[in-house]
Amino acid sequence: MTKKVSGFSKFTKEQKINWLANSFLSANKDATAILKKYWNEDRQLQQLHDEFIENTISNFYLPYAIAPNFIINNKPYVIPMAIEESSVVAASSLVAKFWGERGGFKAEVISTTKVGHVHFIYEGDFKVLQKYFDSIKAKLLVATESITKNMQKRGGGIINIVLKNKSDKLKNYYQLHVTFETKDSMGANFINSCLETIANTFRKDGIEIVMSILSNYIPNCLVRAEVSCKIEDLDKHNAFEFAKKFHQAVQIANIEPYRAVTHNKGIMNGVDAVVIATGNDFRAVGAGAHSYASKSGQYRSLTHCTIENDIFKFWIEIPLALGTVGGLTALHPLAKLSLEMLQNPTADELMQIIAVAGLAQNFAALKALTTTGIQHGHMKMHLQNILNQLGATKQEKKQILNYFHDKPVSYNSATEALDKLRNNNKLQ
Ligand code: MEV
Repeated sequence: MTKKVSGFSKFTKEQKINWLANSFLSANKDATAILKKYWNEDRQLQQLHDEFIENTISNFYLPYAIAPNFIINNKPYVIPMAIEESSVVAASSLVAKFWGERGGFKAEVISTTKVGHVHFIYEGDFKVLQKYFDSIKAKLLVATESITKNMQKRGGGIINIVLKNKSDKLKNYYQLHVTFETKDSMGANFINSCLETIANTFRKDGIEIVMSILSNYIPNCLVRAEVSCKIEDLDKHNAFEFAKKFHQAVQIANIEPYRAVTHNKGIMNGVDAVVIATGNDFRAVGAGAHSYASKSGQYRSLTHCTIENDIFKFWIEIPLALGTVGGLTALHPLAKLSLEMLQNPTADELMQIIAVAGLAQNFAALKALTTTGIQHGHMKMHLQNILNQLGATKQEKKQILNYFHDKPVSYNSATEALDKLRNNNKLQ
């Protein structure tokens, strides 16, 4: 078989797997079986997944978990999370309980505006361009009416179109900067369709359209989530010391980009897990969040902390472009179920829930980092994975998990423990 192929997308699924197995996986006699093992027996469900993308040959599972006991704006929630990293859900559950006993999380949406651009080149006089734009602006809005009609009924649509002169940064470069309100939909298709229609109407001799596309930088689609309590309520023994170190950790992430990136990665552990579980676009959310972290010109923490008048306050401000209608949200049965367990939130409510998931994850990470260290809890959770990798039986896993109850875990120590158990029949 050749390693080059044409007309591949027209092959049946079996043909695609055969070609792959023969051309690139011939050394692995189990390759086809592994791929087929992940097919769903329910043919209709499998077909649904097959058709999400092109050239589907199997499914790639992520664990789907729930974190109970979240209180957000005085309302109880159980939060669905799809993620492979071992300690994330456990951390969420612990933090949910911790803050649930201290008044819960408060969250509010600050703004919901999204942005897109028609990028174009114009070689003439800017005043002439401005005049042309002013004369055609109303027509640009009229041209999009068939697309915006339904969105307008839901209270959304195009908010404004502005001509921007960027020719000082790039020769002859201008934009139509378009702002949108997309209500409960993430709005990517809506925004891009509007932009392409606007571009076609705007097009004329002397204007060279380069591209029309939404921006994932959405500093005005912002949500804030917060926890606060009296410092003394943070911990029975070391509350003030804990608050001080925690505050220092946030300050470090605010001024040191090396730390800020890891700090924010921990936030995204919580954010992405819920974004994926609800069928939303985690690449868009990631791009938006990280670019917002750089809005000052330096990459900084997305969370903030103050200790004032004996009150510990910890909050996140993060842009989130999310939908609770459209896209995969109604199509993927688990995404739909996730939204149902969140009591079918509006996009605004989902923004609040996901900001809370990010804040909770950051609280858990900083609490661990400034006290016991991160590896303690992380490796305990990871022990199960190591034992699975080593082929431990159910009984062996039980004994070894028990054995490591009060001992540090590493790959080597787990291997040694398993050997000892197998050779001596006991662990001491
Ligand atoms: C690991 O996935 C996330 C952490 O590194 C986050 C952090 O350091 O704040 C623990």
